[in-house]
Amino acid sequence: MANYDVIIIGGGPGGYVCAIRCAQLGLKTACIEGRGALGGTCLNVGCMPSKALLHASHQLHEAETNFAKMGLKGKSPSVDWKQMLAYKDEVVEGNTKGIEFLFKKNKVDWIQGWGTIPGAGKVKVGDEVHEAKNIIIATGSEPASLPGVEVDENVVVTSTGALELNKIPKKLVVIGAGVIGLELGSVYSRLGAEVTVIEYLDVVTPGMDGEVQKTFQRILKKQGLNFIMGAAVQKTEATKTKAKVTYKLRKDDSEHTIDADTVLVATGRKPYTDGLGLDALGVEMTKRGQINVGADWQTNVPGIYAIGDVIEGPMLAHKAEDEGMAVAEQVAGKHGHVNYGVIPGVIYTAPEVANVGATEEILKEQGHNYKVGKFMFMGNGRAKANFAAEGFVKILADKDTDRILGAHIIGPAAGDLIHEICVAMEFGASAEDLALTCHAHPTYSEAVREAALACGDGPIHS
Ligand code: NAI
Repeated sequence: MANYDVIIIGGGPGGYVCAIRCAQLGLKTACIEGRGALGGTCLNVGCMPSKALLHASHQLHEAETNFAKMGLKGKSPSVDWKQMLAYKDEVVEGNTKGIEFLFKKNKVDWIQGWGTIPGAGKVKVGDEVHEAKNIIIATGSEPASLPGVEVDENVVVTSTGALELNKIPKKLVVIGAGVIGLELGSVYSRLGAEVTVIEYLDVVTPGMDGEVQKTFQRILKKQGLNFIMGAAVQKTEATKTKAKVTYKLRKDDSEHTIDADTVLVATGRKPYTDGLGLDALGVEMTKRGQINVGADWQTNVPGIYAIGDVIEGPMLAHKAEDEGMAVAEQVAGKHGHVNYGVIPGVIYTAPEVANVGATEEILKEQGHNYKVGKFMFMGNGRAKANFAAEGFVKILADKDTDRILGAHIIGPAAGDLIHEICVAMEFGASAEDLALTCHAHPTYSEAVREAALACGDGPIHS
């Protein structure tokens, strides 16, 4: 008799959600997590703490730029960095404790420690071996290293160190204009740092819709971020308080250097599978170091499953959560499913950036017969009233059937607005379905409706 029906290794958004759903489906469940707190990278050193700092720094920016215009006069607030970090830590603690509560409520056992899999059906934590009919690996990812760049989490930091800096740097160099680089670059720029982003490609946030990339970079430049594009970072040389970054411009191979108080390395993440014993078990991996799984998230070793950042697909907390719920249903004998065509992506800068489905570039590449409906937030009354009228909603729909194929938003509350389009896409809706849906006035969501109208006879307010 196994001790458990399911043991999940990893207590991040993939693992803890999976554990709760397994327990709800009547399976005796344990979740192994060695960090000392549940919630994984996302809650402890990723999504949640960065959102706290984004929120706080955005409030400061609002006070500095818009309060006086609204008749709110007086001295702008100054930054108490220690208190801001304390607020961030409180946000993290509240959330991680919340998961502990949910585990107790759902009778999920939290086994504290790092798990290895000595054989199918067995998980070892410390000296103890636990048995389970099913093992689900949800061990997430870690920052990818960059040759020539040594991270000390003091002067040269990953996103983890960037959330714990001793002080706000005067000069911050960010390597990589991806999601992490631009979110944290925005935070420190708003807090007064001179921020320079060095990016290998000629565009920011690779893979996003081209029009959004251009608008996003333009807005960030206007906010004060500097960009060195088409530049490959060669090395960093750090002392205890400063660093020099050497990069090569791709267009002419010329070498340059830039000084910084802090360097943030944000050049991607890689699956974290160290110490699990996957080699000895013969678990198949992909060429990119991910665990290879089938449509039911099962590896080639029966009874061992994997979800989240350790497998293929976007490294997003909500993708991992969806897989966690779906694999729980699979092991409970149900039919868990994830629609990988409708997974939103959000960048929590101000304005926010959000997307779902195909980009225009992908549709062109596929030779798809599509149409574009676009609406600028300048035509949205609520956005104008709130000093948030930069950006647009862009909906891509099939030219013949009008079915929505993708959507790209840069603007206020984009990360929330995208979900009405996600729901529409889940239901196979046409742009007309959205356009015919009454949207309350005055809301940002009217911009989504107007973009849908733009796929047909045209928007009203532009
Ligand atoms: P990323 O993959 O989003 O961006 C990395 C960037 O670094 C790319 O633009 C790449 O071209 C550039 N780069 C690589 N090597 C370079 C070099 N030598 N010199 C200059 N530039 C170089 O990676 P990032 O931002 O580190 O994020 C990691 C993962 O975490 C992503 O999968 C992301 O989706 C996820 N994440 C998601 C968040 C969200 O959904 N809001 C927030 C934070 C992270």
